[in-house]
Amino acid sequence: MSRFPVYRARRLRRFERLRALVRETSVEPGDLIAPLFVTYQRGRHPVAAMPGVEQLSVEAAADEAARLEELGVGGVLLFGIPESKDERGSGAFAADGIVQRAVGAIREQVKNLVVATDVCLCEYTDHGHCGLLTSQGEVDNDATLELLARSAVSHARAGADMVAPSDMMDGRVAAIRRALDDSGFAHLPIMSYAAKYASAFYGPFREAADSAPQFGDRRGYQMDPANADEGLREARMDIEEGADIIMVKPALPYLDVIRRVKSETGYPVAAYHVSGEYSMLKAAAERGWIDEERALLETMISIRRAGADLVITYYAGQLAAAIGG
Ligand code: PBG
Repeated sequence: MSRFPVYRARRLRRFERLRALVRETSVEPGDLIAPLFVTYQRGRHPVAAMPGVEQLSVEAAADEAARLEELGVGGVLLFGIPESKDERGSGAFAADGIVQRAVGAIREQVKNLVVATDVCLCEYTDHGHCGLLTSQGEVDNDATLELLARSAVSHARAGADMVAPSDMMDGRVAAIRRALDDSGFAHLPIMSYAAKYASAFYGPFREAADSAPQFGDRRGYQMDPANADEGLREARMDIEEGADIIMVKPALPYLDVIRRVKSETGYPVAAYHVSGEYSMLKAAAERGWIDEERALLETMISIRRAGADLVITYYAGQLAAAIGG
């Protein structure tokens, strides 16, 4: 079997310029999207579970977006922390809601950055679930669709370039597509969180976005980590409903799903390197147990190698600064 000594794999590994010539995968600042948390409060508020991540006022979010644009980062993904919460999550679709205001402020500061918004109710409902509840306390899929569609249209009106529904209600991509088309936003793309798993790695995010469910968990609507075929079904369903970019989330524990979605659909694939994945690297680096920059680059290359066209990561700014534009 062996072709040795004719074939010596090590010949192309001898020095960096040679390795670079045959390198298969790259990661560029333009492949990255930075999530931003926007709050009604003034200034910047560190998120304890995510060192380096802050909740930002509308003004601070606009400054941060301008800084990221300067670094060559592809886009931002906005999450809102509203002033008050209610049963229906009204803050999610209010014309002067926090995300709607942040989109407006960022638009004035940036030229080329893609301004995307997360569409979900969990940050805005007092119970912390991603949809309306029935009297039995279950998430009411079909009744939630209209509110998600209203949220997406309100983001579009505020000036968003793309909407990203993360709620995992069945049929929401179709509902959002129809509402956008009917409101004059037929050109606005949808990046759908298609294969979104019920993951322990979202823990730190729920502190950042103040969105932990007040009872129960999200296993009734997010996916079972054991299922990959189902991830494919979710991706196909969202494509049929009009999704333009398919997301897999989290990233590293689901590289097989990223690869299959890419190979079997041929659609643009986004991978979300989530809060827990970020915090694990930060924690190990703080203790001096790993080389943060090398571990980060290896992580991002792995996600791209698996088939992701773009990566949503809290490391976007730091990584862009490290690799250059
Ligand atoms: C809202 C939403 C969540 C994340 C993105 N959108 C939390 C959740 O589903 O519980 C998680 C992102 C992260 O952990 O970085 N539905």
